[in-house]
Amino acid sequence: MTEKNNKKTTPEQTEYDKTLDLALRPKKWEDYIGQKKVKKNIQIIIEAAQKRGDKAPEHMLFHGNSGLGKTTLAYLLAKETGAGIRVTSGPAIKKTGELAAILTNLSEGDILFIDEIHRLNKVCEEMIYPVLEEFNLNLVVGNGPMARTVDLNIPQFTLIGATTQLALLSGPLRNRFGATFRLEPYSQKEIQKIIRRSAGLLGVEIKGDSVEKIAARSRFTPRVANRLLKRVRDFAEVKKDGIITPEITEKTFKNLNIDEKGLESGDINILETIIEKFNGGPAGIKAIAAAANENKDTILEIYEPYLVQIDFIKRTSRGRVATKKAYEHLNKEKKEV
Ligand code: ADE
Repeated sequence: MTEKNNKKTTPEQTEYDKTLDLALRPKKWEDYIGQKKVKKNIQIIIEAAQKRGDKAPEHMLFHGNSGLGKTTLAYLLAKETGAGIRVTSGPAIKKTGELAAILTNLSEGDILFIDEIHRLNKVCEEMIYPVLEEFNLNLVVGNGPMARTVDLNIPQFTLIGATTQLALLSGPLRNRFGATFRLEPYSQKEIQKIIRRSAGLLGVEIKGDSVEKIAARSRFTPRVANRLLKRVRDFAEVKKDGIITPEITEKTFKNLNIDEKGLESGDINILETIIEKFNGGPAGIKAIAAAANENKDTILEIYEPYLVQIDFIKRTSRGRVATKKAYEHLNKEKKEV
């Protein structure tokens, strides 16, 4: 197991989450909690397309941090429109032939979901432009002097692209989506609702303020909430009668080394690095990565978004700064220089 997979509060999807997500994923549009604005706007797009008699709604781009429900929304959208759905990801499509095979196998009105679309390679990306605009696939068949191009008509479909890194998506690709939606972090109330729903589906009784305690450590992310709920349930089953109580909840998190804000050793390491090695900053991201012995992209994608959200780190033009809140949380005092 890698370090990342060991973490309980990273929003990235693990193999274990895939099964968990499948069991707990809302199967009906009405069951999907949160992202109200996005849901409403998608519904308008679907209805308008149906009224016009379009064969497929416009292409849509979802962006936002890991674990906020981009894939779930795509599945629900397919269910809502009665469309078929094909799910793949940018890094999974290595060659143009693979992309061509996917495209030529689509039926009219289908949804093609490409996760991590910012990682689609350049050749594939360019091949997809005319498909998105005119449902026309230009294929090069054969090699050298024998090479010729073939134009194929692709049935009208809806591409749903998902990305955690909107800035890495090229302008031409971005422009080919009819609508772009940003998925927002969930509120504590929404996360609590999701935990209650999941506990119901798992058939586990949850007492007192256990729901609030789990929600507070969930990083505003349903995937993390569901994962933590399962860990607490396991602990309750092994140590007690399977009922989740506030005491069992506290003990689970103590054992897992997850603090009241949902921070783990990796997060603490980043904060302590900024505080101790850079006297609270400002410090550049590369310098922090080197001093904390962490990968720069892991900091940018995994640790930093949440630390910024809870106002423990501020991004300034001169670098990252640890806030007063971060000092207080870690019980540290700022050294005067
Ligand atoms: N499980 C994961 N995400 C969810 C959501 N947004 N609503 C309900 N259940 C969920």
